[in-house]
Amino acid sequence: MATALSQLIGELEPGQMDDLAFQRWVRLLESRTGVTVPLERKPFLVTGLRRRMREAGFSDFGVYYNELLNGARGQMEWASLVDHLTVHETRFFRHLPSLALIQDQWLPGWLAKAPADQSLHALSVGCSTGEEAYTLAMVLDEGLGRAEPPRRFGITATDVSQPALSVARAGAYAAHRLEEIPEPYRGRAVELDSTGNLRVVDRLRRRIGFACVNLLHATRAPLRQLDLIYCQNVLIYFARDRRGELLDGLARLLRPNGLLVLGAGEITAWTHPQLTRTSGRQTLAFLRNS
Ligand SMILES: C[S@@+](CC[C@H](N)C(=O)[O-])C[C@H]1O[C@@H](n2cnc3c(N)ncnc32)[C@H](O)[C@@H]1O
Repeated sequence: MATALSQLIGELEPGQMDDLAFQRWVRLLESRTGVTVPLERKPFLVTGLRRRMREAGFSDFGVYYNELLNGARGQMEWASLVDHLTVHETRFFRHLPSLALIQDQWLPGWLAKAPADQSLHALSVGCSTGEEAYTLAMVLDEGLGRAEPPRRFGITATDVSQPALSVARAGAYAAHRLEEIPEPYRGRAVELDSTGNLRVVDRLRRRIGFACVNLLHATRAPLRQLDLIYCQNVLIYFARDRRGELLDGLARLLRPNGLLVLGAGEITAWTHPQLTRTSGRQTLAFLRNS
């Protein structure tokens, strides 16, 4: 319990966080990941911090903060902490209208325009535990495998959280997650392994490379030019004034006729001179002019 005196001078017991200290943590998180935490989400930040501090043997927010600034040791600790401060919620086939846009509208046009020997390259931004990237692999496999001649594809899937990426690389999920995958894709894309887990088949797993890339620095990463960029449920965690800048960077990675797919409602009033918004009220996507 804080004493009356310590309350007067604004000191709190170790393990408590006043609003000034909260702002300091928000600034650190925002400068390193772009993710912003509004005051109403303070409990989320405090819970995440507490969980990691307990694991790492810290009880005082100030001491832990200084530890994070402590050279290489601090950087390693930051890599563990960031997983606790980011939201990883995801699922297979999360936004069907966006996937239908890719498969039914964009892919036929891309096939008609791209030279027959050109393979398609896609990027899943903020891929969390991998379900989004595997979904894209299932959709592209279906659309490109049926093309004449069949085309190859590759997917780069990135996230800032190493633990999330480890799950993604393993490509194994609880069996009940099968329900998220529409019937027509199941047979070709997933199988139950000997432990009863759902596993994405090797043929599709081989098409995806998972990498730890901070979206803030994505345009500095050695990413190739891309045909499809899928970025959903990530921008919403960034400060509004930063979202446009990030999208400008992603737009530079798109090849002519490439498609940028965002989460519906994640940004308003963003335009780009080389991109045209696709029609459709349930989707938010932009096509790079040819
Ligand atoms: C809510 S999940 C969305 C997962 C998936 N895109 C989907 O829509 O289902 C947000 C993901 O963004 C990642 N993320 C947050 N900040 C990031 C950053 N600066 N760079 C890359 N990934 C980031 C988080 O680690 C988390 O896995």
